[in-house]
Amino acid sequence: MLLKLTDVSKSYKSRYGRVIRDVLRGTDLAVEKGEKIAVAGPSGSGKTTLLNLAGALDFPDKGEVYFNGEPLSGMNASKLAAFRNRKIGFIFQFHHLLPQLTLWENILIPALPGNEADAEVHNRARELLTETGLWDIRHQKPGELSGGECQRTAVVRALINNPPLILADEPTGSLDSENASLLIDLLIRLNGKEESGMVVVTHSMEIASRMDKIYKIRNGKLEEG
Ligand SMILES: Nc1ncnc2c1ncn2[C@@H]1O[C@H](COP(=O)(O)OP(=O)(O)OP(=O)(O)O)[C@@H](O)[C@H]1O
Ligand SMILES: [Mg+2]
Repeated sequence: MLLKLTDVSKSYKSRYGRVIRDVLRGTDLAVEKGEKIAVAGPSGSGKTTLLNLAGALDFPDKGEVYFNGEPLSGMNASKLAAFRNRKIGFIFQFHHLLPQLTLWENILIPALPGNEADAEVHNRARELLTETGLWDIRHQKPGELSGGECQRTAVVRALINNPPLILADEPTGSLDSENASLLIDLLIRLNGKEESGMVVVTHSMEIASRMDKIYKIRNGKLEEG
């Protein structure tokens, strides 16, 4: 099993330790290698919270998150940093590209620690940019790109290290339906090639229906279907 959450609970607390909101309440999730999963649910139901826990950007109050059978709670800080950087490809709702850097520099950020000059990384970057139609504009900055081009850049950035798990939080949220559909095509095509697992948060039933399984968050738990 690539990713497994068992009996995971998460609440947010005020500065004084008072619970503001029980978001996840003992939920389970399993994602196999190469499996694509959609997560839906109303605003505030805990979708981003779930992705944050799956990618070790935050930690559960109760329960455990396993990656390839290994509990995240057993990893020290440097192992967690390596896990986030090498094993997870994050795609955020808003692309979170750095405005001062060119597209080319942005996509190389996850590859930076250690091997920025690595010819293999550059080859992969070139291949992904060509495949996504971004090669010719690689020296432009995010402010000079369209919304769809920024989102495609964010997809390339998430894939640059060839991570076994992609976590995408409403990756098409800011796109019109035609561009949203193209972005998902791209993600599925590239993902199929790499056999990565994928968890996509989406409000679009059209996008959700292209995944292997659809889950909804209801009362703090994931329900299939
Ligand atoms: N850091 C935080 N501190 C306190 N409350 C938080 C924090 N992060 C999220 N929440 C609350 O937890 C609940 C779940 O938030 P979350 O971001 O996971 O929802 P979501 O399903 O992603 O919503 P949306 O569809 O609007 O993005 C919300 O009610 C939110 O206000
Ligand atoms: Mg969210």
